[in-house]
Amino acid sequence: MSFSGILSSIFARKPGTLLSNSMAIDLGTANTLIYLQGRGIVLEQPSVVSIDRETGEMVAVGNEAKVMLGRTGIALHALKPLKDGVITNATATMAMLREFFSMAKKRKISMRPRILVCVPSGITEVEISAVRTALERAGAREVLLVSEPLASAIGVGILVEGAAGNMIVDIGGGTTEVAVISLSAIVANNSIRIGGDEIDEAISAYLKKKYSLLIGERTAERVKIRMGTVLEDDDEEYEVSGLDFVNGIPETYLINSEDIRNALKEVIVTIVDAVRHGLEKTPPELASDIVERGIVLTGGGALLRGLDKLLMSETGLPIRVADNPLSCTVLGAGLILEDIYRYRNLLIQ
Ligand SMILES: Nc1ncnc2c1ncn2[C@@H]1O[C@H](COP(=O)(O)OP(=O)(O)OP(=O)(O)O)[C@@H](O)[C@H]1O
Ligand SMILES: [Mg+2]
Repeated sequence: MSFSGILSSIFARKPGTLLSNSMAIDLGTANTLIYLQGRGIVLEQPSVVSIDRETGEMVAVGNEAKVMLGRTGIALHALKPLKDGVITNATATMAMLREFFSMAKKRKISMRPRILVCVPSGITEVEISAVRTALERAGAREVLLVSEPLASAIGVGILVEGAAGNMIVDIGGGTTEVAVISLSAIVANNSIRIGGDEIDEAISAYLKKKYSLLIGERTAERVKIRMGTVLEDDDEEYEVSGLDFVNGIPETYLINSEDIRNALKEVIVTIVDAVRHGLEKTPPELASDIVERGIVLTGGGALLRGLDKLLMSETGLPIRVADNPLSCTVLGAGLILEDIYRYRNLLIQ
C-alpha cells in the first residue's frame, strides 16, 4: 500500500480506534524498546541475539543473549545485529524482532500490528528499505517511519509544532544525532556514526595499550557505566580483570578516573565537534531560541558523568539531560501513535 493509502486507511477509522493494534518501536544499536498503543512501554531489551552456529537457529535474545556476548564458544554466537544505528545482519534482526513481538504479544496485541519505527536522521534509502523489510518479515502489517530526533523531542515534552527552535543531542549506542527542530521538522541536523560503542572500544584500546590488558565489550561497557567520566575532579579507582596478552594469563588492574578521561578524550572531542557543527548549521533566526532554551541531551550516552558540564563550557549554552534518556525516543513515537492525526506531518513519506 502507498504511504497516502496507509494514512487514508488510518484516518478512515472511527476516532478512538485510530491505529488500534499499533506499536511504536525504537530499534536501537544497543537497545530495542516497544510501546503499545493505549498501554505504554511494554518491552526494553538489549538488541542482541545468540545463534546456534550449526543450525542457524536463535537460542537467546535480549538480556539473555547479552550476558553471552564474548562468552560463546564454537557452538554459539552472540551478536548485535545493528551497528551505527542501522541493520548489518538482516536475518538476525528479523529473528530478534519476531521474538520481541512475541514477548510483547503475551500482552495481547494483534498478530500483525501496524508499526511506527524510529530511524536515525542520517539514514539512507537503502537502509530504510532494510528496516522496512525486517519489520514486515517479522510480522508488521504496515510500517510507518519517523526520525529519531523528532520522536525524542516529543518524548521529552518539547512542543515540536511551535515556531521556536529546539536542539536535541541524542547520544546512542551507535550514533550521535544533533538536530534543531522547528515547525514539526528538522531544520538543521548533524548525524555521526559514533556513540557508546565507540566509547567502549576506546576504553578497551586504552587498557590494551597501557596495561597490555585485553577486555571484552561487556566489561568495557561496565567500566564506562561504573566510572565513565569527563570531569577533571573525579577521582575513583576500579578493578578490571582481563587477559594479559604479554603473559597470556588472566590479570586484574586497578584503573583510575584519569585512565578513563585519557581513554575517552578523542571520542568526546568528536562528539563535541558534532554538536558544534550542528550549531553552525542552525538558521540564524533560530539561534537565539537555542541560546535561550539550550540543548536537551538524550540517549544512554547522555548519562556519561560530566558530559553536560563539558558541553556547557564548550558551547556556552544551557544543557539539560532528559529525565528518561534511554526511553524518550520510543515514548515520543508512542505519543505520535496516540495522536496520529495531530502528528501526521512528522511521518517520513
Ligand atoms: N550511565 C551510563 N553512562 C554512560 N553510558 C551509558 C550509561 N548507561 C547506558 N549507557 C550507554 O548508552 C548506550 C545505549 O543508549 P541508547 O539505548 O540510547 O542507544 P540506542 O538507541 O540503542 O542506539 P542508537 O540510537 O545509536 O541506535 C550504550 O552504549 C550504553 O553503554
Ligand atoms: Mg537511539
